[in-house]
Parts: sequence; structure tokens; C-alpha cells
Amino acid sequence: MMPLAAHAVRETIRQQFPALDQEVNGKPLVYLDNAATTHRPKAVLAAMDEFYTRDNANVHRGVHALSQRATDRFEAAREEVRHFINASDPSEIIFTKGCTESINLVAGSYGASLKAGDIVLLSHMEHHANIVPWQVAAGRVGASVKPIPITDGGEIDLDAFGGMLTDRVKVVGVKHVCNAMGTVNPIARIIEMAHAVGAVVVVDGAQGLAHAAVDVQALDVDFYAMSAHKTYGPMGVGALYGKRALLEAMPPYQTGGSMIRKVTFEETTYAGLPDKFEPGTPNVAGVIGFGEALKWIRSLGIDVISAHEDRLRDAAHEALGQIPAVRLIGMARAKVPVISFTLDGIHPHDVGTVLDSEGVAVRTGHHCCMPLMERLGLPATTRASFSVYNTEGEVASLARAVKRAADLFR
Ligand code: ALA
Repeated sequence: MMPLAAHAVRETIRQQFPALDQEVNGKPLVYLDNAATTHRPKAVLAAMDEFYTRDNANVHRGVHALSQRATDRFEAAREEVRHFINASDPSEIIFTKGCTESINLVAGSYGASLKAGDIVLLSHMEHHANIVPWQVAAGRVGASVKPIPITDGGEIDLDAFGGMLTDRVKVVGVKHVCNAMGTVNPIARIIEMAHAVGAVVVVDGAQGLAHAAVDVQALDVDFYAMSAHKTYGPMGVGALYGKRALLEAMPPYQTGGSMIRKVTFEETTYAGLPDKFEPGTPNVAGVIGFGEALKWIRSLGIDVISAHEDRLRDAAHEALGQIPAVRLIGMARAKVPVISFTLDGIHPHDVGTVLDSEGVAVRTGHHCCMPLMERLGLPATTRASFSVYNTEGEVASLARAVKRAADLFR
């Protein structure tokens, strides 16, 4: 796959993201906090604006024209998500407010089937969003949550994982791509191993969807959680893919209007999929924006995106690797352009502050992965995370700013 030429990134892609074209602290913005949230192309902003300007109405409720248009656009977005991840049926796509809610849905609903003595295995690099919901679900019934070890290089230790798999393991939770180190986890192999003992697998796809093709049928994954705002879409919206048979057997996670078939004061029966898991008025504009964002990714081609991102990752490793005080954290063999590092003797928050003064936006801290930081023996890292609209020139700006921080605090 040919990587994107520098001029194509500048002229074809960046001009679609007006927010990138600004100065911060008197310097051109270098936005390298894409693992926290990406920016949105004009097409996504326009689709949401058009909904509120022209089609605004509630979905699935009215016979009038606006409600029908809103419903059609909402359901078209569901079909776009289905197509994007190759689910077999749109009713396997449940809209949520993001990856966190998607995982809470699985832990709260599927997790209700856990029993005392059952085990939930979670990789040691999980985000808090794929740890805490399972602690709550397991805690309710006397099940336990155990970490799957990782190597010093930032990869899941598959041998150790294999050794932990018994028929008491009911759920395995793993992130597709690590938000703190960029590791791309071998989820196909993990799913195969977990299924061999009858466990279901919940993949936190927050960082995966924008970087690599996802085919839920080929993966045979049970649940795949998504966030729109990490994939050039709006904040506050996401989706859960679940296998139809699993979703059908699960109790509702939240209740209210539109998730019911019949309500009397004596009894309520529930609607079928996906409505059973979508009570209340949804974030219609957000869902439409999410669908548009996935369409935008498809228009570029996920392979083209990942070839460009691989080039940025390699350039960033090379440039930062030349600064003696830099220690790169997490050098997995399969990795997206999420570059975590420390600078000898300098707190990441100080590094982030100097970078901001140079117009370079990064995230510093534990990245919602406290157990991972503890495993690595670090309080925090500085994280530069790249996206398709970033350029090799911005890699050079990052390296210059990091060098400046290293020199300032020497
Ligand atoms: N989970 C997001 C991050 O990694 C917010 O920054």
C-alpha cells in the first residue's frame, strides 16, 4: 500500500479539519493528542448541522415527514457501522454514548450471568473503562477479576494467558489497541484461545477502529465496543457490537421508553434488538455524525490511513530516539503511532507544559491505565498520538520541542 504523499495530507486532508489551522501560544498548532480525541472533518460537522437545521425530530416515534427523515438517517448510520465492521445484521449494533457505556452495558447485562467462583480475565494494560465495570459485576456475585500479564516490551504474554485459561474463566476483556503504548493486541488469537474454554471476549475497540480494519465475523468476537470521537466523529456517542444470540439472551441494561413491547402496571415485555438496549431519545445528531465519520474513513481507505500512520510512527521513534534523555515506553512489534515516553528526571506534566508553549498538544499522565503504569514502574508518561492528518513536519516539531524541554530542565 502506497503511503499518502506529504502534499496530499496537507492539501487534501488537512483542509477538511479547520481546527488544525490555528496558532497556540504564538506557534502553529501541532495536534498530537488524537488518542484522547481526534478532530472532525467538515463533512461530519455538516451532517450534524444539517440534522438540526433541516431534519430535527425524534426518531422511531412520529408519522410526520421530519421524524421519518430523522429515523432514516439514524438507521442509515447503524447500517454504516454494520458495514464498517462487517457485522451480519444491523440489529447487532447498539448505539451508546461511547465505549465506556458499551462496556458497562456488557458488564451490567451479560455480567449478571456471572456466578461465585467465576473468573474475568483482563489484560494488565486495560483502560479503567474495561476494568472497573468488571470489578463491580464480579463483586456483586463473588466472582474474581484477574490481570493477564504483559511483557516489558508492552505486549500481552500469550503463554501466561494460556496458562490462566480454565473452564472457570467466563469473560476475557482486552483492548484492541493500547491507548497508552500503541500496542496492537493479537485479538484474533486471544479470541480463539478464550473460546476454547467457553469464555466470551469483550474487545475495547476505542483506539482500534480508526487505525485498522475490523471484521467482527472473521474475528468471531463476541462484543466489540466503539467510540465515535476517536474516529473523527462527535463526542458522547459510540456503539456496541454484540453477537445476536448473546444480545437476545441478555437482560436490558437500562429501561424506559422505546425499549418496550408492552407496558402495564403488572408487567412489561421488551422490544427486540436493537431497541431493547436503546431506551430514551438517542443522540441522533451524534449517531449521524458517527456514520458520516466512518464513511469519511472509508472514502480515504483504512489501508491508506494505516500506511501513513506507520510512516509517522517510525519517524517519531527515530526522531525521539536521537534525544539521549528520552526513554520510549512500549515498543511492541505491532504498534500504531501512539508514542509514550519519559524524559530523564523531568515530570511528564512539565514536559507537556513546555510542549504546549511550543504549540504541541500531547497528553501527560496515567492515561486512565493506573495498573499499567504500576506494572511499568512509572507514575506517568508523555504521550504523542498521531492521526492521518499529521505530517512528518509535525514529527520534527515534536522532536524540537522535546529537545527544548530536555535542555531547559538539564
Ligand atoms: N482514553 C482517552 C485517552 O487515552 C481519553 O486519552
